[in-house]
Amino acid sequence: MIASKFSFIEEELNKLKLEGRYNKIRVIESPQGAWVVIDNKPKLNLCSNNYLGFANNEYIKSKVKEYIDKYGIGPGAVRSIAGTMTIHQELEQKLSNFKHTESTILLQSGFNANLSVVPTLLDSNEDAVISDELNHASIIDSIRLSKAKRFVYKHLDMNDLEQKLKEAQGSRRILIVTDGVFSMDGDIAPLSEIVELADKYNAMVMVDDAHGEGVLGRNGRGIVDHFNLHNKVDIEVGTLSKAFGVVGGFVSSNKLVVEYLKQKARPFLFSSALTVPDVAAALAAIDLMLNTDIVQKLWENTNFFRKEIQNLGFDTLNSKTPIIPIMLYDEKLTQEFAKELFEEDVFAMPIFYPTVPKSKARIRVIVSAIHSKQDLEFALQKFYKIKTKFKI
Ligand SMILES: Cc1ncc(COP(=O)(O)O)c(C=O)c1O
Repeated sequence: MIASKFSFIEEELNKLKLEGRYNKIRVIESPQGAWVVIDNKPKLNLCSNNYLGFANNEYIKSKVKEYIDKYGIGPGAVRSIAGTMTIHQELEQKLSNFKHTESTILLQSGFNANLSVVPTLLDSNEDAVISDELNHASIIDSIRLSKAKRFVYKHLDMNDLEQKLKEAQGSRRILIVTDGVFSMDGDIAPLSEIVELADKYNAMVMVDDAHGEGVLGRNGRGIVDHFNLHNKVDIEVGTLSKAFGVVGGFVSSNKLVVEYLKQKARPFLFSSALTVPDVAAALAAIDLMLNTDIVQKLWENTNFFRKEIQNLGFDTLNSKTPIIPIMLYDEKLTQEFAKELFEEDVFAMPIFYPTVPKSKARIRVIVSAIHSKQDLEFALQKFYKIKTKFKI
């Protein structure tokens, strides 16, 4: 019998199921919020990157409606062909002001923003890229697409980074690339030290601020503002898919880098522009970050939850941000724990190998500004109940 052309997929899928790594995707039947409806039932949402609740914010929705009436919905083309609209320029300018950078280029996602930078700046095997071992998948793929020699340093380890910088000396260009806030551990890159080392070894610095925008710095301006490193970090990659509440990406840098990306970056040249609703929502999101105390509310919630979950005896690694890993270490236990939480109406993701190393399984909690104190207390109570049940 001739095997089906796709029998290899069946085998791979079965393997994932057997290894407990098959991802069952939950379907949300309501808008994103502190609570969401799944299978017709409200669940406390501790999974989403909707840090400020902007995914369903009334002010932002009204701005989106206004812009749709004025500009329509779609951009109609790739930006370099006929897709660049005044609103794209308006948002680029506003993001540059927000980030205190010279210039900004919009892309369709944070993933695409990373893919735009590394292969464009490092296009020869005479170049070198030096990357934190826990960097996001989109950074890893951007490195794979570039022609540069690759060096990976141990997570947050500045001695190892220096070692790799020494090994990379003699390269035509050297780029250090790091996540700002690490998406699984919630810890923060030591950006001041990275900049010092970059100066010493004449390297460029790129930070992916996906989980820093709307979170760190004054009014959520991000990690560069948090460490007061304006004009010292060469390239900031951003996303509109987390605190901004929609979809899109951008790169903020000096004018030369942005001009070069507009000429050369393949995701800019060969994929269409951001939609009008995304752009309008991002414009309104910046207004809210600058003119309300929403970022402060996020930190009040974060500090409260982290302190209380630690008081219950849970290990949260070195988390310093609203991303709080609740470490259970064991893969199976973590999956069971998340299942029990879900039955108790708490929706929090179990994260395990290969997303994190083996035996480093955890429930990842993400706190939002729109959680009430009662919501967070509800979650704490359920975590404690299940911990007691499992005798952890
Ligand atoms: C650190 C980091 N960079 C980039 C991305 C990709 O962003 P986007 O969802 O806008 O493609 C993510 C999202 O998962 C992320 O966590």
